[in-house]
Amino acid sequence: MSPIPSTSIRRRRFLLYTVLALLSVFLFFHTTGISWELPSILKDSNLPSLSRANIVSLVKFKQDSSQGSQKSKFDAKVDEIYGLIHLVTGEDEENQHVLVNMREFDPTEPVGMDVYAPGEVVHWQEEAERLDEVYPMVVFSKTFCPYSKKAKKLLEKYELVPQPMVVEVDLRDDATQIKALLTRLTSRSTFPNIIVLGESIGGSDDLNRLHENGSLKKLFEKAGFEVEGDV
Ligand SMILES: *[C@@H]1O[C@H](CO)[C@@H](O)[C@H](O)[C@H]1NC(C)=O
Repeated sequence: MSPIPSTSIRRRRFLLYTVLALLSVFLFFHTTGISWELPSILKDSNLPSLSRANIVSLVKFKQDSSQGSQKSKFDAKVDEIYGLIHLVTGEDEENQHVLVNMREFDPTEPVGMDVYAPGEVVHWQEEAERLDEVYPMVVFSKTFCPYSKKAKKLLEKYELVPQPMVVEVDLRDDATQIKALLTRLTSRSTFPNIIVLGESIGGSDDLNRLHENGSLKKLFEKAGFEVEGDV
């Protein structure tokens, strides 16, 4: 029998004691009924909490990578009006942003967001936020319409920052489609149609009424505009 080197014995003994120690700790908690808990630093609640936006972007990431029907289901959460605002505020590259160039669609029925952004990959939640910031007001106007002129004149007095985006619908090839879309999306078929943060605040008469009773300035300030005009 060859003698076992003493270091090896020590190591084995150490292992045995360690196992026994762990076992007794386990039994102690087990029999005393103290529940096992992860140290709080390891628990989820101590991780930086996921905000709704984080979760949304995670979900979006997942859906973007899976493409297809799931993506459009997600996009359905953003109001269609933002599709239209995206279309009319976008850079016009070879008339890509004109609805008549696109596949046939019925503007009186809800349409997928892709109709407004053919060939583009748009994250609509983010895009709606961007549009609210850069184009908080979109005025759908007609060049020869006296009500549109009146509304534009009144809006100029407010010297809004950012400036309202004026879309002269009659100058566009897709005027018919835009009128039909606005009628469905805002329940208003006449011009001008003034959209603030994705909601129609009405036409020229509505604007005037709000102006005369002094609530228009507050409405604009609440929507994030700076009112620099003396109104
Ligand atoms: C101002 O007029 C608008 C539109 O008619 C109305 O909704 C609002 O309550 C009025 N506000 C005040 C302060 O009179």
